[in-house]
Amino acid sequence: MRIAVVGSGYVGLVSAACLAEIGHDVISVDADVQKIADLKRGEVPIHEQLLPQLLQRHRGNRLTFSSSVSTAVAESEAVFITVGTPQDDSGEPDLSYVESVASEIASALTAPKLIVEKSTVPVCTCESIRKVLLLHGADPSHFSVASNPEFLREGTAVTDFLYPDRIVMGVDDDFSAAMLYGIYRPLTEGTYYREEGAIPCPGLQPEGARVIVTNAKSAELIKHASNAFLAMKISYINMVANIAETVGADIDQVCAGLGADPRIGPQFLKAGIGYGGSCFPKDVSAFHSVATQCGIDFPLLAEVTRINLAQRRSFVKKVRTALWTLRGKRLGVLGLAFKGGTDDVRESPAIAIIQELLKEGASVCAYDPAAMLKARDVLPPGSIDYAENEYQAAAQRDALLLLTDWERFAQLDLPKLHKAMKLPIIIDGRNLFSPSQMAAAGFLYYSMGRALQITESMPSLWHGIHFSPQAITMQPTRASTA
Ligand code: UDX
Ligand code: UDX
Repeated sequence: MRIAVVGSGYVGLVSAACLAEIGHDVISVDADVQKIADLKRGEVPIHEQLLPQLLQRHRGNRLTFSSSVSTAVAESEAVFITVGTPQDDSGEPDLSYVESVASEIASALTAPKLIVEKSTVPVCTCESIRKVLLLHGADPSHFSVASNPEFLREGTAVTDFLYPDRIVMGVDDDFSAAMLYGIYRPLTEGTYYREEGAIPCPGLQPEGARVIVTNAKSAELIKHASNAFLAMKISYINMVANIAETVGADIDQVCAGLGADPRIGPQFLKAGIGYGGSCFPKDVSAFHSVATQCGIDFPLLAEVTRINLAQRRSFVKKVRTALWTLRGKRLGVLGLAFKGGTDDVRESPAIAIIQELLKEGASVCAYDPAAMLKARDVLPPGSIDYAENEYQAAAQRDALLLLTDWERFAQLDLPKLHKAMKLPIIIDGRNLFSPSQMAAAGFLYYSMGRALQITESMPSLWHGIHFSPQAITMQPTRASTA
């Protein structure tokens, strides 16, 4: 099928590349002419594993790029809207980009086409898009509008798209249903997975992707409710972690117990400095304003956001406690992106925490495997130092903060790190190590929801010093148990 995808951001570009991968002829459209020129030249504007391969594989044949919405729509049978729906100052989603794209689409509707809303939008947006199309002169027999929310996560976006937990088709007529079934058939019938050269997904060889057909409003609600629920789960476990830390329990053990209950499930129970990114923060607040507009009081969502922001503050407090004062302290930071596997720093807890530490007079030298270029937009050089690698960021530092869950950080050479640092103090906002491992390596290791461990092999000076309100457990050094 000939498909136009309007908006070549994280969701749009991955969707366009994956739709080409499963056999469609796709035009990826963006208003940012520089981005389109870069994409045509072979550049990849975002850090996302497998995306460069897909763009390489399909660029110029099944996948082309344009900055003209009307041309792309005229040449296509279906049009996906994946433009940004950022939060405005009042916390409401700004739908003006969706509206402007819809008005551009209207003028190019010369035959029946399917318009697919894929950006995350409040319930009833489908109706607003239909109204805009009619207002801009579109013939009602020339379009159907459907909702097909995207659930991909940054960092695993390509396999999330190709191996979805479910494909939600929010359709209000048969034409929309038939078109969406046609578009996703290679995944729903599993033919794509049996193709030679298909992108594999470790541990997964599905027969076919699961489809959930609903009306458009239900599909829109599924997306907001899903993101808000996941964000709530994270805020919940962070509160439990705060209790665990205070009483000397261990959040890892607690999560193992909680997650073993299939009604709860082990996923999204990772305690830390809270969630960030372009989705959860804005979708929780957008869903809250949807409830308010419906005259429904939904304070739980406000609490999810409040807990999330408080988690950042309590981490700064943890740093202050570990170092006593912050003014003049030289801190190393590993991680700037809102999560591992992406270069995206939008609503990144790491950035917010660094900004708070700078306000308190500390200096920061940071390293991130992918996000340093984008971080410079919010933390210009001079406000912090940017290191070339993890050890340089830690060199001669009073403490090292771990703020993003990049896998490679958990593989660090601890003796080398210990030698590089001025003080062996690590404050881990993502629980990348185990307290016993770090104590054995001679670090004062603060983490989320777990007790600080002191081993007998540590300088006796440290024994009995009250390092923090965090519970402390004395661990015999390995040697002494011999
Ligand atoms: C977007 C939405 O923000 C999010 O709510 C939804 O869940 C998925 O799509 P993302 O892909 O991360 O998320 O957005 P972003 O990376 O900002 O990309 C949006 C793209 O749309 C940008 O490249 C922007 O240039 C483009 N755009 C925006 C247009 O092409 N036309 C417009 O009118 C507005
Ligand atoms: C999210 C949703 O997962 C995805 O379905 C939707 O389409 C877009 O929004 P994304 O924001 O890319 O995806 O990342 P995700 O992996 O969900 O992480 C979101 C934030 O929550 C990150 O800051 C991450 O560090 C944090 N997180 C996630 C936790 O703190 N603990 C967890 O257990 C999981």
